[in-house]
Amino acid sequence: MIINVKAKSSAPAKIILFGEHFVVYGNPCILSSIKKRMQVNVSINNTDKIRILSDLGNSEYSVNDIFLSNEFVTDPIVKCISSVFSTRKKSLGLDITISSEFPVGMGLGSSAACCVATTAAIDSLFGEIKPEWICEQAIEAERIIHKNSSGADCVISTYGGIIYYSKGSGFDRIYLKQSFPILVIETGIIHSTRFMIEKFKRFRDNNLSLFNEFLLKSRLICNQAIEALTLGKLCEIGYLFNENHGLLKEAGVSHMLVDKLISYCLKSGVYGAKMTGAGGGGSVIAVADQLVIEQLHKSLYQMGFNSIISECDLNGLLITNDSNILR
Ligand code: MEV
Repeated sequence: MIINVKAKSSAPAKIILFGEHFVVYGNPCILSSIKKRMQVNVSINNTDKIRILSDLGNSEYSVNDIFLSNEFVTDPIVKCISSVFSTRKKSLGLDITISSEFPVGMGLGSSAACCVATTAAIDSLFGEIKPEWICEQAIEAERIIHKNSSGADCVISTYGGIIYYSKGSGFDRIYLKQSFPILVIETGIIHSTRFMIEKFKRFRDNNLSLFNEFLLKSRLICNQAIEALTLGKLCEIGYLFNENHGLLKEAGVSHMLVDKLISYCLKSGVYGAKMTGAGGGGSVIAVADQLVIEQLHKSLYQMGFNSIISECDLNGLLITNDSNILR
């Protein structure tokens, strides 16, 4: 049964506050969704074509191409579509439009948000969606490009808020007594998450005992961060940001510009700053009092850097459908 001819969904961007990369090896990490969204519109087009229009470019597939076996699929969107079609036993032409309020390749979870929102929009054409299933399919689709990813980005994009996540045991929510601002600074250097995950793995393979030490430290940082975040202890959060960045830098996943921006932030009076996400460029996050954040936001703009004064988005995946019953 088709219950809608078109659907609209959106999923939020994310920042990783603590524990990126280590989460791939079973450690915890802490993520927050932010108020920037990936929007997906889907409509049934009554042809045998799947047409995808996105900020990154356009593509077209025949409906039959969607069912290629996994090793031939290079586009995660195709995987999202095939998961829904196989499960719902459907195959029909679709127009899919994807647009983003935040930059791609900046460590803000664009591919995860895209996979979550696309899978959900298409699935909602055929019935009620189940977030857990959507999230699982999005993780599988994202692995087409990132290979060995932890799934953390898809989980936060689906459920929103601030979460303590680890691969084996899912997530717990962290509730803040009071929200506080975090500045997200784009380096402008687009990274490949897959490449950075591989680079981190090389560090691990070549420095196993140091890596194990880092794993313990990163876990400790995440555990200490829960209380600091809950109680809004900005100074402590900043200290933990700096500690966490130290580990990632030593593991080789930072970038010269990331480190320069962090030094600039620290000189400007922030409590702490770190890379967020896969690194190798991407974005930097900094925690400070509101006034410092606002001044830094302005001065970075004058230096040519885009930054966002981020707020946590308590909503994860959102769906809006026409209640148009087709058959
Ligand atoms: C990428 O946003 C986060 C990483 O930890 C990879 C992952 O968790 O899949 C670098």
